[in-house]
Amino acid sequence: MNLNNLFEQFFALYGNPDEKPRVFFAPGRVNLIGEHTDYNGGFVLPCALQYGTYLLIRPSGKEVIKFASTNFEFRCEIGLNDISAKVNDQWVNYPLGIMDQLRQMNVSLRGFEMLYSGDIPNNAGLSSSASIEMVTAYALATVLRMTELSMMDLVKLSQRAENQFVGVNCGIMDQFAVGMGVKDHALFLNCQTLEYKTIPIRLDGFTLIIANTNKKRGLAGSKYNERVTECQLAVTYLNPIIPLSKLGDISFMQFYKIQDQIPDELVRKRARHVISENQRVLNAVSCLHKGDLAGFGALMNASHESLRDNYEVTGFELDTLVEEAQKVNGVIGARMTGAGFGGCTVNLVRNNVVEGFMERVGTGYECKTGIKPTFYHAEISNGTREILINN
Ligand code: GLA
Repeated sequence: MNLNNLFEQFFALYGNPDEKPRVFFAPGRVNLIGEHTDYNGGFVLPCALQYGTYLLIRPSGKEVIKFASTNFEFRCEIGLNDISAKVNDQWVNYPLGIMDQLRQMNVSLRGFEMLYSGDIPNNAGLSSSASIEMVTAYALATVLRMTELSMMDLVKLSQRAENQFVGVNCGIMDQFAVGMGVKDHALFLNCQTLEYKTIPIRLDGFTLIIANTNKKRGLAGSKYNERVTECQLAVTYLNPIIPLSKLGDISFMQFYKIQDQIPDELVRKRARHVISENQRVLNAVSCLHKGDLAGFGALMNASHESLRDNYEVTGFELDTLVEEAQKVNGVIGARMTGAGFGGCTVNLVRNNVVEGFMERVGTGYECKTGIKPTFYHAEISNGTREILINN
């Protein structure tokens, strides 16, 4: 990201080049394994990416907040008393959700001039929204000197903003990974207790490649909420047999014995995915500890299969992209990552076949879907922070 260029755009919008804005950054994330487990009180294993959202912010001395982005044409000014209303389906609902949460905590906001700029592909399932939320939360907490708020408080606040303001009942994984990311480490998080460990990622001879289906993710929010409800339904069926509050409370062995208590085959499949995926995260962490990358890759493949057959959140494009990847010699694991319904896959590819991988998978995928995919090298990076600029 060219920061000088961003400063120029900021001054072109808001004037007064003698008063420099402060600069904040929040990354996107890729989840290695543990999909649709977070809102079920399960385990996840995401990491923060090198891509993310920059925010330039400066007090305006007026009673309005001015929003602009280099990624979207939509710009607006919102009075401090009007931030509880959503603006259609616009990107500003993410920062507005954060401000709405702060207001509920009786924080008195001030007027600001803000310019956002992101290099995370939009709508790709790499958490561009959590990144906008976290960069806003962290920037506001810093400029308003709310030192009592920890990064973890901001993570929870951002999740609440997405649940209550944006209306997606997401779990905590994205905001957590974006806030707490550690370079070259995955975050092994228990979403029930919020205890976590950082796990070093040593990929000797391998590279993580993200592949984007470039398929628009229509209705992702409503289908996502539908899965959340199906999991809650599974809990109500199982609860009389083994008391549980979330699917993450029981092991696969326990589930296996009582699964017939769920009369609805669809709901049973949803539960099977969540509970088996939880076990796969635990197995994946132990593979990483042993340096067993092949074992880790096999778990990625199994995760995709379950997301396709039991959870049904993949679809033709994601399945094709994964199948094409798995055909390539030197690919030891491939799966969809994020919520699904389009978006990206994550692939563990031997270094010396990366070029060929992109070519073969690119051609194979395009032949079958008519869409060109995009590939990115994932560099595992640090979480949300301020970027200090020397004058
Ligand atoms: C989205 C949500 C997360 C998580 C994933 C699926 O990214 O925001 O909370 O549920 O989907 O694992």
